[in-house]
Amino acid sequence: MSELFSLTGKTALVTGANTGIGQAIALSLAKAGASIIAAGRSPVDETLALIAAAGGKAEGLTLDLSDPMAGREVFQSRGPVDILVNNAGIIRRADAVDFTEEDWDAVMDVNLKAVFFLSQAFARAVLARSGEGKIVNIASMLSFQGGIRVPSYTASKSGVAGLTKLLANEWAAKGINVNAIAPGYISTNNTEALRNDEARSKAILERIPAGRWGDAEDIGGAAVFLASRAAKYIHGAILNVDGGWLAR
Ligand SMILES: NC(=O)c1ccc[n+]([C@@H]2O[C@H](COP(=O)([O-])OP(=O)(O)OC[C@H]3O[C@@H](n4cnc5c(N)ncnc54)[C@H](OP(=O)(O)O)[C@@H]3O)[C@@H](O)[C@H]2O)c1
Repeated sequence: MSELFSLTGKTALVTGANTGIGQAIALSLAKAGASIIAAGRSPVDETLALIAAAGGKAEGLTLDLSDPMAGREVFQSRGPVDILVNNAGIIRRADAVDFTEEDWDAVMDVNLKAVFFLSQAFARAVLARSGEGKIVNIASMLSFQGGIRVPSYTASKSGVAGLTKLLANEWAAKGINVNAIAPGYISTNNTEALRNDEARSKAILERIPAGRWGDAEDIGGAAVFLASRAAKYIHGAILNVDGGWLAR
């Protein structure tokens, strides 16, 4: 049974691995046996230390995806990478009537354009070696819902859901599983502004059937599952890890 979920012998690259959900995913994949390439625009030392303390293997990689093409050589310059987790993401908040082109482009570049072109670079490398690969994208509740005051974030995460399905359609028969996780409301830097807004924070909490905000660690197990042999026949799925939020 355990070999169904084991990632021993696999290498996984996780973007935005220095903190939050990316750090938790990197640690979970490492605990499942994968060697981790922890990619970040900020130093990933804390993540490397956590993985080492857990007895895992990891190396760091500087990767700033504000240039969405920054990762196009990443898979050529190293050994085979089996798992790609497109986690890096940003959010900008303003009323739609005031929203700037800069806030639109910055979010779309990191959250959507970089996801596509890093996935393309990964798939090219996997296909060139006739190998197998797993892509796990990080979507959002705003892949399904509208949200408020986050137009480029909603557009980008709705795009991630569509892209996940398109890439699954193209690559499922070629040995690459493309799926996504849609986290609910998780306590990280991304949601700090929401948690600091007492009224919004209370309204959100009241709607979560599990009765609590999620922790980054809540996402790790889902990533291990989607990256493992257990998910071999899962293609184009978006797995909600949301404490039941979408069930309401
Ligand atoms: N928290 C939630 O409730 C929630 C819900 C749904 C989806 N998500 C998604 O989950 C993912 C992780 O977010 P999080 O909640 O863990 O928030 P976070 O703590 O803000 O982490 C975001 C990560 O993305 C990285 N990043 C931002 N811009 C980047 C760039 N230009 N190049 C490379 N990396 C960059 C950040 O690096 P720095 O630390 O250097 O900025 C950080 O590692 C995001 O895609 C987010 O949209 C979060």
